Amino acid sequence: MSEANDKGGLRVLVLHGPNLNLLGTREPDVYGAATLAEIDDELRRAAADAGVEIRAVQSNHEGVLIDAIHDAAAWADGILINPAAYTHTSVALRDAIRAVGLPTVEVHLSNVHARERFRRRSLIAPVCVGQIAGFGAASYRLGLTALLAHLRGARR
Ligand code: DQA
Repeated sequence: MSEANDKGGLRVLVLHGPNLNLLGTREPDVYGAATLAEIDDELRRAAADAGVEIRAVQSNHEGVLIDAIHDAAAWADGILINPAAYTHTSVALRDAIRAVGLPTVEVHLSNVHARERFRRRSLIAPVCVGQIAGFGAASYRLGLTALLAHLRGARR
């Protein structure tokens, strides 16, 4: 399992699925104006304040996301994931999360439950601690807070 980081703190893999590299210009009315770099910077700052190290990976390729999940088993304490469109299609991503057994929180910028019917089904949510959706870039921050609370055993 994971080694503690230099400060003895937690380590979190942040995973972004397909098309999220286009944030900032991609359907800003749906996904907001923040770029992925801005989201990662903000997360990194929030994590640093909490003594947590994060490593962020974005990929448009399912296998790259799966490899990152497998690798995380060796170093991370938990996973924060926006699987993007793979949320609704990927048995392979779901199986990877279950296989490594790392506590995982699913996040979405948009409220997937208030959009097209196909977005209401997540293949990933059943293998996650929980899901946060609909708060724009803040979904990531809220998701990190929830994941850290879970990892620190603050679930009451
Ligand atoms: C998304 C929602 C998905 O349905 C969509 O395919 C995305 C982004 C979100 O963050 O709101 O790419 O995961």
